[in-house]
Amino acid sequence: MIEILAPAEIDRARRSGALVGSILDTLRSRAEVGTDLLELDAWARELIDRAGADSCYVDYAPSFGSGPFGHHLCTSVGDAVLHGKPRAQRLVDGDLVTLDLAVSLDGVAADSAVSFVVGQAAPEATALIEATERALAAGIAAVRPGARVGDLSHAIGTVLTDAGYAVNLEFGGHGIGSTMHQDPHVANDGRPGRGYRLRPGLLLALEPWVMLDTDQLVTDPDGWTLRSATGCATAHSEHTVLVTDDGAEILTLPPRRS
Ligand code: MF3
Ligand code: CO
Repeated sequence: MIEILAPAEIDRARRSGALVGSILDTLRSRAEVGTDLLELDAWARELIDRAGADSCYVDYAPSFGSGPFGHHLCTSVGDAVLHGKPRAQRLVDGDLVTLDLAVSLDGVAADSAVSFVVGQAAPEATALIEATERALAAGIAAVRPGARVGDLSHAIGTVLTDAGYAVNLEFGGHGIGSTMHQDPHVANDGRPGRGYRLRPGLLLALEPWVMLDTDQLVTDPDGWTLRSATGCATAHSEHTVLVTDDGAEILTLPPRRS
């Protein structure tokens, strides 16, 4: 099902998005060499609770995971790229970390992910992160009423491919609204001019992700964490965006620092 948000729901989506942006920004600033992934998850829980919001993850039990996720934050480190299940693991210098968070506030969900390096970054880690950020920006730039989902996929996929990465099409962006995962699916590559035609009031989570030298995933024995099949480094960037009357509004930005 594809939801188009009414004006009152759009206000709620803005507040939900701002909350996700703010929590992710706080968690990012707390993640340093020595931080444990379970600590990050506990902080996420505390910040979600304090805001009166609900985690979209804790009870989530989709076909691609084993049982309820049971945590409030995805923590994907190194070769882990998607759905990283928090575990007792301290960050070490040079770790490439992705934090992915979705919450629902007053009935509207927002979803965002950020990748960064703690300590000293290897050049290929920086390149991976920048490629997903540029792909996300290109996808967002293609969002406007009348554009097709394939236009967004094409914009995202072109950046990733031109950067030299192979694109995996198993997991990608998605509609979002009263629940986290909705239609339309937004693959991270595709043909322009195809697919659902965007309308004002549609909420989309766009989420390019890449792996350094493969497009194949393997599932960790924890039943959730998806890792690169070769053990190579990975990155992932995600924002929730609203289709407006003339373009896109990014709802999950970090708070502005003045
Ligand atoms: N936020 C992820 C996404 O963008 C979903 C994570 S599902 C979870 O689609 F259960 F692992 F949390
Ligand atoms: Co998502």
